[in-house]
Amino acid sequence: MKTAIIYYSKSGSSAKCARDLYRKIPDSALFNLAIDTCDISKYDNVILGGGIRAGKIPSQLKKYISSNELEIQKKNVGIFVCCSDGSHANNYIENNFSPILVKKAVVCGCFGAEINPDEMKGIDRIIAKVVLKNIKKSGAPAPQINYAKIEEFAAKFR
Ligand SMILES: Cc1cc2nc3c(=O)[nH]c(=O)nc-3n(C[C@H](O)[C@H](O)[C@H](O)COP(=O)(O)O)c2cc1C
Repeated sequence: MKTAIIYYSKSGSSAKCARDLYRKIPDSALFNLAIDTCDISKYDNVILGGGIRAGKIPSQLKKYISSNELEIQKKNVGIFVCCSDGSHANNYIENNFSPILVKKAVVCGCFGAEINPDEMKGIDRIIAKVVLKNIKKSGAPAPQINYAKIEEFAAKFR
């Protein structure tokens, strides 16, 4: 079974997760929507992922899905998001992916996130600093990528 892992990552977390899935899923290929397009006709499985900003997945990922939705619906689908607030992960997935895709998905996952304001610019950097400050204030640990969840997710495509 061939697997296409299609992602868009603005600040690197979804890219890290996608690369980890790629290492863990045999016969998979990586497609970064910032530079690649993907013809999914050659694939049995399609994994779609991206980072959440203000409750939304990247517009590049959204556009790719709407242009290919019918084709994607014929595949074994996996959906992942990266976000700092895992308690809202289900809402993020339901609000950003069509009900058909969510229902059809073999697995939907939230892999957490790494937030490095120093690697960001402009408004992203400011918001990232505020997000980290609020997390620290609440006493919760700094967000990190959950590699165990990526492993569980990957197992569904082996
Ligand atoms: C401007 C901005 C807005 C964000 N909004 C949310 C949000 O609404 N919910 C959330 O859980 N995390 C939010 N985050 C955290 C991101 O989801 C996290 O940084 C993630 O790593 C982004 O994925 P990426 O690195 O692949 O772009 C936000 C981060 C930034 C910088």
